[in-house]
Amino acid sequence: MSFKFNFDIEMDGEDVETPYVEPTPDTFVQSPSSASSRVPAQLHSLDELISKLPPHIAYSPLSIPLTSSKTITIPRRELFDVKMQLMAEDNNPSTNASQNFSAAFTDEDIRTNTYEGGLKSWECSSDLVKQLVSDSEIWKNSSHRILELGCGTALPSCYILQTLLSSPGDHPVHLTLADYNIDVLRLVTLPNLILAYLYATNGLPSSDPSVSEEPEETPEIELTPDLISSFLSTLQSHHISISFLSGSWSPVMISLVHGGLEHPSTTEETMYSLLLASETIYSPSSIPEFVDMIEYTLADSGKGYIAAKDIYFGVGGSVKDFVDIVEGKAWKWEVVREEKRGTGVGRVVGVVSKS
Ligand SMILES: C[S@@+](CC[C@H](N)C(=O)[O-])C[C@H]1O[C@@H](n2cnc3c(N)ncnc32)[C@H](O)[C@@H]1O
Repeated sequence: MSFKFNFDIEMDGEDVETPYVEPTPDTFVQSPSSASSRVPAQLHSLDELISKLPPHIAYSPLSIPLTSSKTITIPRRELFDVKMQLMAEDNNPSTNASQNFSAAFTDEDIRTNTYEGGLKSWECSSDLVKQLVSDSEIWKNSSHRILELGCGTALPSCYILQTLLSSPGDHPVHLTLADYNIDVLRLVTLPNLILAYLYATNGLPSSDPSVSEEPEETPEIELTPDLISSFLSTLQSHHISISFLSGSWSPVMISLVHGGLEHPSTTEETMYSLLLASETIYSPSSIPEFVDMIEYTLADSGKGYIAAKDIYFGVGGSVKDFVDIVEGKAWKWEVVREEKRGTGVGRVVGVVSKS
C-alpha cells in the first residue's frame, strides 16, 4: 500500500532554479487503495494543536522567486527536525506517530491511506504562492473564510497569514487547514504558521550571516509560553481565527465544516470564500471526494485555487480528470498560471468557481 515518487527525472533549469521544494515526479506507482480504510475526519482547535507542539523547532527561510529580481520568503520547519522529533517520540509509549510515519524515514513519498505526503513541500505549492502574490488585492478584499485542503507544510496559508499580519484587511478572517494526517498538522502545519507570524512581526532572528552569531547553525526557536501567548494575542488583535481538520475528504469532514455531526447546516455563513489546494489530485480514486469537498465547502461566490501537475503518470490522476468533473457540474475553470519544465510534465494553477 505504498508508492514512491520517482526522482529519476531529468533535472532541468527550473528545478535548479527552485531547489527548495520536492519536484513532483512525472511518473510514480501506487498500490490500489480502498476508501473504507481511510482515516476518519476530525476537527481540531488551535488550542488542541498548540498543546501538541514540541518545545523548539529548527527552520530555514524558503525563497520563492517571483521575478528575476524579486522573491518572497516563507520560513519553514526543517524536515530533519521533524524526523528527530518522531524518533524521540518513538521512545515514548504514549505516542505511536513514528509507526504511521515510517514512510518519512524511507524513500517513499506517500503511503496510501496512511501518510499522504504532507511533511514535504511539493513544487505546485510554490506556484500557488506565486499566484496568490499576483492576486493579493483580489483575495484580500473578498476572503473572509479560507480553507486549504491537503495543506501539508501550508506554504500558501503561511503566505496569506504573513500578508494579513503585515497589512491587515478590514474584516475578520477564519483560516482552516486540512490535512489527511493529524501528525502533519502538529509537526509542520502549525509550526509553519507560527514561523509565518514571527516572520511578519520581525520576531525571527536575522538570517543575515554578517549579523548572526552562529551562521553555520540551522536557526531554532523556542516555543515558549510567552511566544505562544503573543501569537494568540496577535491573531486576536488582527481578528484572525484558525481551526484544523484531519482525516479523509468525506461527508463527515463536510459536516464538521458546517457545525458538527449533530447539527450540520450547509449555509453560506459556513462556506468558504477562498479554497486552496496544491498537489491533491494525483489519485483518481480520491478526485471525486475532493470535488465533493469543493461542492459543499466553497461558497457560490467563492474561488478555489487548485495547483497541480497536468498528469500524474503511474497513478493516473490529472488536471483533465478533475476539470471533466468540474465542467460536468457546469462550474467555471480558468487556468491562471502555467509552468513548463522543458520536456517534463507541465503544472498549472487554475481557479474553479461555481458562477
Ligand atoms: C502530495 S501532498 C501535498 C501537500 C501540500 N499541499 C504541498 O503541495 O506541498 C498531498 C496532500 O493531500 C492530502 N490528501 C491526499 N489524499 C487525501 C484524502 N483522501 N483525504 C484527505 N486529504 C488527502 C494530504 O493531506 C496531503 O498532505
